[in-house]
Amino acid sequence: MKIQIINGPNLNLLGIREKNIYGDESFDEYFKKLKSKYKNFDLHYFQSNIEGELIQKIQEVGFDYDGIIINAAAYTHTSVGIGDALRSISTPAIEVHISNTYSREEYRHKSFLSSHVTGVILGFGLKSYDLALESFSKL
Ligand code: DQA
Repeated sequence: MKIQIINGPNLNLLGIREKNIYGDESFDEYFKKLKSKYKNFDLHYFQSNIEGELIQKIQEVGFDYDGIIINAAAYTHTSVGIGDALRSISTPAIEVHISNTYSREEYRHKSFLSSHVTGVILGFGLKSYDLALESFSKL
């Protein structure tokens, strides 16, 4: 099973930025743990601070990978383009967030992605990614 994890802007600063919200672990460290837990998955990771690069990656993998896990970060709340990319592909996608965006500022309550993905997992810290991967595994 080929799965692409896509992280959006500022998530390259996990472990450094707003530790009280996002924790003190970098995504690279966490990704190593995911790879060792899900050895049977072919896991790929991409991060960009640039909206167009996120759309490129969605288009690149969105017709032959088995799954996408996307945290579009701040673009979640602004990007019609990322929403359109997700509705244009055939690979199922899961939207994840580290924090519970509904318990935060009102501008974080709106997602331009949610109606174009299979499901949404949020508020479990980095564990949100683990839960999303779990959803792709067969019982
Ligand atoms: C986030 C929530 C977004 O509102 C925020 O802009 C982020 C991270 C999360 O994972 O909790 O950068 O997507």
